[in-house]
Amino acid sequence: MRPVHAKDHPPTAPPGAAEPVGSLPHGTVAGDGEGCRGGEGVPLPAGPAEVRRIDADVPGAVGRMLGHVLAERLRRARLTDPLFGEELAERVARFTLQGGKRTRARLLWWAARACAGRDAASAAAALRIGSALELLQTCALVHDDVMDRAVLRRGRPALHTDLADRHADRVGPERAGRFGQSAAVLAGDLALAWADDLMAETPLAPGTEEVVRRLWSDMRTEMVAGQYLDVQGQITETRSLPRVLRAACLKSALYSVERPLALGAAVAGADQVTLRRLGDAGRCVGMAFQLRDDLDDVFGDPRVTGKVCGDDIREGKPTYLVAVARARAEAAGDGAALAVLDRWLGDPALTERGLNEVRNVLVATGARATVEAEVDRLAARGLRHFDGVVLDPEGAGPLRDLLLATAGARPEADAAERDAARGGTGGDR
Ligand code: IPE
Ligand code: MG
Ligand code: MG
Ligand code: MG
Repeated sequence: MRPVHAKDHPPTAPPGAAEPVGSLPHGTVAGDGEGCRGGEGVPLPAGPAEVRRIDADVPGAVGRMLGHVLAERLRRARLTDPLFGEELAERVARFTLQGGKRTRARLLWWAARACAGRDAASAAAALRIGSALELLQTCALVHDDVMDRAVLRRGRPALHTDLADRHADRVGPERAGRFGQSAAVLAGDLALAWADDLMAETPLAPGTEEVVRRLWSDMRTEMVAGQYLDVQGQITETRSLPRVLRAACLKSALYSVERPLALGAAVAGADQVTLRRLGDAGRCVGMAFQLRDDLDDVFGDPRVTGKVCGDDIREGKPTYLVAVARARAEAAGDGAALAVLDRWLGDPALTERGLNEVRNVLVATGARATVEAEVDRLAARGLRHFDGVVLDPEGAGPLRDLLLATAGARPEADAAERDAARGGTGGDR
């Protein structure tokens, strides 16, 4: 079966289902968690047996950690101001707790386990930093949806849309829209602040601390740099292949896969070589992840992606998929294909017919097949970086499986096909 690959999460609840967040901590907050030590009210694993219990449900453990952390943040937010607590802070908490697939936190966990991180201290750090990654992801997605004018996320109204809709009847769509965007900027800021707080409050061993804090700092900056290249490429119509790959690497490969793996390896105290090899694997898989996301935007099922189809075309996003199609059409002197791309790219009024025309061009130029093959090639190349690295088998198997699922490679594409594909998105350093 083809792996379900939505960058975030398939829809789980009807759009707009906004339960009162006063009830948020119940059922989502851990601590009553059996086998967990409740130091400072946070559920931390106390030994190898509990670490193995977490192995069985990493997203659940991250969710419980987030429940704890966010219950306390919300309590303080409500004290700061009840209206702010109810309308903004609770939305940030709910978005994070409802969550996606917890991909980054799972990558971090399994990287730590593959690097023999089974002691309680590194497991606790992995859970906390994984939770901080989820909060950072809330910031990234909430801001991204404003920048990309996306109205759906995880099958629900995007946060800025949800907030705008509450006021549209009274003040009209334009003012309400501006309010939604302003509030979403603040919501993302709050999520980022909470992520940083959690990082700062995570105790780390002296040798590890410097490495982890540097990785975290680099990762945040890389994500912002990638998002900037993305929107700058959009406004300037800069769509060269090297440039779109650079943006994809920064906004996604590093932030979504390479850095989470390196953080996991670092908390487990891995040596420099192992850390780098995991990072290299993560870079390849992370590039595949973004290329798959670009394919899903055009060809995916919104019921799976939880996002509106064709938004990248509507916004004129500088994706690798479109850059390949354009390069192919130019090389072949295919004026009709170029005319379709020029007609629809960046047109907010893109219709279903227009999207179908674009899809046809992406298929006919061979861009779709090229990007699909590149995803497979990157996944295979990513895993090859593990060759010769000594990893704990308890963690290495699940880590490989997770990396393959994250890459969104086609299971039917055999290794030979992957290896045969050449060319380069520069997934390797
Ligand atoms: C977003 O990239 C990357 C970050 C949030 C850092 P996209 O704009 O392609 O993501 P989706 O498709 O909206 O999820
Ligand atoms: Mg974007
Ligand atoms: Mg987007
Ligand atoms: Mg996308």
